[in-house]
Amino acid sequence: MKVLAINGSPRKKWNTAMLLENALEGAASLGAETELIHLYDLTYTGCTSCFACKVKDGKSYGKCAVNDGLAPVLEKIPEADALILGSPIYFGTVSGQMRCFMERLFFPYRTYTKPPRSLFGKKIPTAFIYTMNVSEKQMKEYNYTVHTAQNESLLNHTFGHSETLCSYETLQFPDYSKVIFSYFNPEKRKERRKTVFPKDCEKAFDLGVRMGKASLFEPYE
Ligand SMILES: Cc1cc2nc3c(=O)[nH]c(=O)nc-3n(C[C@H](O)[C@H](O)[C@H](O)COP(=O)(O)O)c2cc1C
Repeated sequence: MKVLAINGSPRKKWNTAMLLENALEGAASLGAETELIHLYDLTYTGCTSCFACKVKDGKSYGKCAVNDGLAPVLEKIPEADALILGSPIYFGTVSGQMRCFMERLFFPYRTYTKPPRSLFGKKIPTAFIYTMNVSEKQMKEYNYTVHTAQNESLLNHTFGHSETLCSYETLQFPDYSKVIFSYFNPEKRKERRKTVFPKDCEKAFDLGVRMGKASLFEPYE
């Protein structure tokens, strides 16, 4: 069993990456082989609208034909037994690199038919982990949930059952005294890092276990 996690944060050791690592540890506890890919290590674009993935009898039908730094990652997706995406919230939605990745990931697998179908060819459990500055209440007020629900639905339709996990009011800076930051309370942030974030890491671990179980023994559908 191979579980793939994709980090859409430029930071390789911060909130999003830590939660993804915990999810992978959960899957590894069931014996899964795991891999964490950092999108910001790669040079690539979003979908270029070449439509090679849509050409009748074309050699790239159902596959992204763009040959850049993301191509090797997209080639790994059909081999995965579970897929976990992770992104910080940037201006109300996922990071730019994650957005470009998602265009290249989803578009080739989606048929332009009514209803749209998935060309992925099998069902695998999926999840999306988000980290953000705002609270759960603010997330709803600012309509971030429109994006997270849409992403859950895309993952669901393309690959299989999808879960969403959010970590709120994360620690953004290692040392708040060095930055101009009065929007949120830094002391509360540091406290949450010690009290709430470890629980989020546990939730991520448990999510990884559920995904491992779903791909090994108990498929969701
Ligand atoms: C460019 C940028 C835009 C951001 N926009 C938002 C936002 O709209 N809402 C929010 O709650 N947090 C926002 N944040 C905060 C991050 O989502 C938050 O610090 C996140 O946990 C960072 O993830 P990381 O530690 O994995 O890098 C933004 C951060 C940056 C750098």
